[in-house]
Amino acid sequence: MALSQRDNELLTRVGPGTPAGALFRRYWIPALHISDLSEPDGPPVRVKLLGERLLAFRDSQGRVGLVEEFCAHRRVSLWFGRNEENGLRCPYHGWKYDVDGNCTEIPSEPPDSGMCSRVRLTAYPCIEQGGLIWTYMGPPELKPEPPEIEWSLVPDEQRYISKRLQESNYLQAMEGGIDSSHVAFLHSDALRNDPLIKGSKSGEYYRDKMPHFEVVDFDGGVLIGVRRKADEGRFYWRITPWLAPMFNLVPPRGNHPIHGHAWVPIDDETCWVWNISFHPRRPLTTAERAAMRAGSSIHTRVIPGTYIPEANSRNDYQMDRNAQVAGMTYSGVYGVGMQDASLQESMGPIVDRSRENLVGTDNGIIMVRRALLRAIRANQEGKPIPGLGASQRVASCGIELPADAKFPQDAMHALRRERFADPVSV
Ligand code: FES
Ligand SMILES: [Fe+2]
Repeated sequence: MALSQRDNELLTRVGPGTPAGALFRRYWIPALHISDLSEPDGPPVRVKLLGERLLAFRDSQGRVGLVEEFCAHRRVSLWFGRNEENGLRCPYHGWKYDVDGNCTEIPSEPPDSGMCSRVRLTAYPCIEQGGLIWTYMGPPELKPEPPEIEWSLVPDEQRYISKRLQESNYLQAMEGGIDSSHVAFLHSDALRNDPLIKGSKSGEYYRDKMPHFEVVDFDGGVLIGVRRKADEGRFYWRITPWLAPMFNLVPPRGNHPIHGHAWVPIDDETCWVWNISFHPRRPLTTAERAAMRAGSSIHTRVIPGTYIPEANSRNDYQMDRNAQVAGMTYSGVYGVGMQDASLQESMGPIVDRSRENLVGTDNGIIMVRRALLRAIRANQEGKPIPGLGASQRVASCGIELPADAKFPQDAMHALRRERFADPVSV
């Protein structure tokens, strides 16, 4: 059933003071690559998250600060500031701030005026984990433990992360990530050719074009099971955990690295798509890293020095009609990430979900919307919310099971497998 316009608004608006914005502010949120801010006293970096314009900098001691972008004096952008001697100094009149947002110096004021101690910038705590700088933008007393998602805990040599700008609301992007049924169509070329996807036994099972969906809630969010016919009366299950409110874990294929995403709202009409590939037990190979850098599988080639994809709405995503007609790619757009982005951006910045006509294969999306709406309400009422702490200890899997297997009970050993062990994958 289609979503009401009211619920669509509730799910998609994430700025300060909105119900969904309040929910997102209960979690650690990926903000930057650590490499975006590698040097002490290096250039500050603009960061926009959940509709708030912020500025990140690393001070002389290596501490990361994430503060509001605008100087408390007369509101110029501190992006122009001087990052020096444990603080960021506004270049207009020299006011200076530390990583916690405290004003530490107002050069024009006598030290005993007390003005400086009364001035503060909004500042959010940051942690560095899994190649990323994460921030927490919610009430200090509710700050959760650091993330426990497996990809954020493996050594750097076992992980590769890329990021691209998507010009749509986060929910459109995220719904693509949990909509397993489009893979057999839109991404059929990748199943055949992509070096990070092809070659697994499971690829053959996509001949079943009518997958059966079973979707259940769990303490981390939602488990989306997709069943296809395998050989000898068995079934092939791909199980995607969606972790509230913005992560999904893609089921593995063979011994390829496992992929995952974080769908991070920049504001209501744009989002960061973070693409994570990792192997829980072994370093990524040189060939795998090269393929990821070249834009294979979920990764995307971006315009150097930016996170804007080379193929984007301004050049019609470099659409190749001949490739579409010849079936080299199903839509004519190249690359899994841009195949997704081209269609999701084509819906407009916030799609009107009251005009959809949903079918059985949209069950994952329906359940995730419901789970998000419930979490928004629970947060408003001060009740527990999903996806915090140990509930993130879950793994995606691609598993063959007998015809009479029960979901998710008979896959629990794979979903709750030991951390840093080989994935359960065919
Ligand atoms: S505007 Fe920043 S010091 Fe005056
Ligand atoms: Fe996709």
